[in-house]
Amino acid sequence: MTRQEHHPSMPQPAWWLRRRDEILKIADGQLNAYVYELETVRQSVQRLRDLQSIDRVLYAMKANFNPHLLRLLASLKVDFECVSPGEVEHLLRVVPDLDKSRILFTPNFAPREDYQWSRDLGIQVTLDNLYPLQAWPEIFAGQKIFLRVDPGQGHGHHEHVKTAGDRSKFGIPRFEVDELVSLVEKAGADVVGIHAHSGSGIPEPDSWGQVATELARIAARFENVSVLDLGGGLGVPGRADEQAFDLQAMDQALALVKARLPGYEFWLEPGRYLVAEAGILLTHVTQLKGKGNRRYIGVGTGMNALIRPALYDAYHEIVNLTRYGDPLAETANIVGLICETGDTFGVDRPMPVSHENDVIVIANAGAYGRVMSSRYNLREPPQEIVI
Ligand code: LLP
Repeated sequence: MTRQEHHPSMPQPAWWLRRRDEILKIADGQLNAYVYELETVRQSVQRLRDLQSIDRVLYAMKANFNPHLLRLLASLKVDFECVSPGEVEHLLRVVPDLDKSRILFTPNFAPREDYQWSRDLGIQVTLDNLYPLQAWPEIFAGQKIFLRVDPGQGHGHHEHVKTAGDRSKFGIPRFEVDELVSLVEKAGADVVGIHAHSGSGIPEPDSWGQVATELARIAARFENVSVLDLGGGLGVPGRADEQAFDLQAMDQALALVKARLPGYEFWLEPGRYLVAEAGILLTHVTQLKGKGNRRYIGVGTGMNALIRPALYDAYHEIVNLTRYGDPLAETANIVGLICETGDTFGVDRPMPVSHENDVIVIANAGAYGRVMSSRYNLREPPQEIVI
């Protein structure tokens, strides 16, 4: 029989195991909560800062827009990638002294007003279709713009999160580049950056080097491009025994490409990498049952709080924190309280014998957790606590 314990291949136990007593105390006060540890975010930032080939890091704030995290990231000189006026306005509200030059605005199939709005506010915009240049060229006259291109191959942890290739709605395809060049010229816009984001949760470290090579080909068609924005997508493993993302391999691959392309800055815009591990979803065991030969452990929240398992089959480690260290005596499905069969956080998980009110940790929930939550079934999403 195995035990729930720290896996030897991991460099150090997760922060929520090191701070177990504190987490149990927090859980005492509420049925459910998202808990974020700022120190873990700081460490992720530092790892990206140590990369030799990256000149600028922008945080894709769609992953988590908790004000404390945004303020911390701003204070650590991380800049921001936003996808809607709502995100930009929220950011400027919670970090009021943020210089607008630290924001990159990357809307997708957005209405004309969004482009006018960003021009009037003086925020750097990225176009990812020909349409805005065809239909509203006057908005971009004399403006510095970024262009998002489709590098041809999508990557990521699930079909829904691949954002390049024939089956994705994002980016200007390479076969439209001639037309793009003439539209930019007609509009009188000034292309200063070329961008791509090929997907989310990418484990292969060479992906960004390949993207950089593709982007440089397109950048060469414009006179003033100084930036290749290689997007986000850096993978964060869900299982405790998986290898961490190989940042050094990514850096080395990029360094080789950069040596051939000395004129360009390389930017990265990760969301998940900066915040996923920093967050857990805390809940409690509500009810237990057996049906057929299956055990069910019910918990006090559901897919309204964290939709990733239902939507992408995403794997989140689930630990009974109250009984951490007990033998993993049974195999159970961990299910939520929402009225859908898909409301399952984990299938066939080895768990200790669990009891009502035990504290359950759903790990790696700092990215795309609370931000994708809803009031489905009129269950309120959990509150957020920052430590
Ligand atoms: N840049 C752009 C233009 C993006 O669209 C995204 C994410 C990122 C950067 C950041 O990607 P990241 O480093 O976080 O992988 N809800 C899904 C992920 C959707 C990502 C959407 N775009 C999930 O929970 O896995």
